[in-house]
Amino acid sequence: MHVYIKVDQHLTILQTSSAFLPKLSDTVKCDPKKMATQGTTGANNATTRPPPNPSPLRTAKFFQANMRILVTGGAGFIGSHLVDRLMENEKNEVVVVDNYFTGSKDNLKQWIGHPRFELIRHDVTEPLLIEVDQIYHLACPASPIFYKHNPVKTIKTNVIGTLNMLGLAKRVGARILLTSTSEVYGDPLVHPQDESYWGNVNPIGVRSCYDEGKRVAETLMFDYHRQHGIEIRIARIFNTYGPRMNIDDGRVVSNFIAQAIRNEPLTVQSPGTQTRSFCYVSDMVDGLVRLMEGNNTGPINIGNPGEFTMLELAENVKELINPEVKIIHVENTPDDPRQRKPVITKAKELLGWEPTVKLVDGLPRMEEDFRKRLGIPKNA
Ligand SMILES: NC(=O)c1ccc[n+]([C@@H]2O[C@H](COP(=O)([O-])OP(=O)(O)OC[C@H]3O[C@@H](n4cnc5c(N)ncnc54)[C@H](O)[C@@H]3O)[C@@H](O)[C@H]2O)c1
Repeated sequence: MHVYIKVDQHLTILQTSSAFLPKLSDTVKCDPKKMATQGTTGANNATTRPPPNPSPLRTAKFFQANMRILVTGGAGFIGSHLVDRLMENEKNEVVVVDNYFTGSKDNLKQWIGHPRFELIRHDVTEPLLIEVDQIYHLACPASPIFYKHNPVKTIKTNVIGTLNMLGLAKRVGARILLTSTSEVYGDPLVHPQDESYWGNVNPIGVRSCYDEGKRVAETLMFDYHRQHGIEIRIARIFNTYGPRMNIDDGRVVSNFIAQAIRNEPLTVQSPGTQTRSFCYVSDMVDGLVRLMEGNNTGPINIGNPGEFTMLELAENVKELINPEVKIIHVENTPDDPRQRKPVITKAKELLGWEPTVKLVDGLPRMEEDFRKRLGIPKNA
């Protein structure tokens, strides 16, 4: 039997004979408890191939050695802050590709026309042929409202989009960083979550296009690393907040802030005791850059371990932004995880990274940005 898959513009034979199929007697018996807690990190990192060579120009004596960096999804919330950070270094040239599904040119307006900056309207589910040295692969809607809007497209973005970016990394010898997510832990059975936890994810739920999509994206990253020697980096991002988040995108921090500014009740999904940890976007960007520049493939959790219940978050927003608003309960959405908190020991030890911005300091910065965009000044 021949099974073909289209990768890097080529048809590759996946399986050529039934000899490659596992025999029933080979099936590994799994202890589900062990499966939930056993680690994969480290043991699977060995590559079987040396990394592909970068362009010969990189080592040429008279070449202007600017680092060319691709940011997919760079017109989005985290991506645009990452671009700001990368553009600070005069040795960087930054190329953004984005299909503007949830991102906006507005987020990049300060760079449009800059000689070291280039913006390309492109969908990562289509192959991309450009010359770059590093790829930050962020393209994917992150808010449930958007990723559930067209789940088939979401999973295509995660799977085909990541394949295309890995194909590009292979062709040009670039290092690639994937922004994975704490959602790979699903509704976790261990708390807090470290990188060795394999997760508890519903494969057929309404959120699976995102959770399982990112899990496959991580698998593809490691397979390209082991099989083709690609230099990979995987960040498992926990909830991040800050200016430029989409207003009304359904994510809890943006919801509460927009509601408080508009003088509407803060809607806490029942029971309100579910927890999340919130990382300010400048801390997140710092973690991503350190991961890219360091020597560790990851996956590495990047998030703020400060844990808040949804009710506590609502109370914080009320106190800081609008003490007059009411807090009300609404029905929860399916498969909403009950708790999330990163263990960041690896990030601390391997990247020398830990978050520095407290929630009470980050929320007012986001309020300022939301007020500007909503046109509602502080004492209106
Ligand atoms: N913000 C968070 O709390 C969080 C948490 C975990 C993981 N992440 C991950 O970080 C990354 C960025 O998240 P964000 O919060 O900035 O989200 P965002 O929605 O603001 O940004 C995503 C960007 O990707 C673009 N995009 C989507 N599909 C695309 C496609 N097929 N082709 C090209 N561009 C496409 C969007 O237009 C947008 O500009 C995502 O990969 C997300 O999964 C974010």
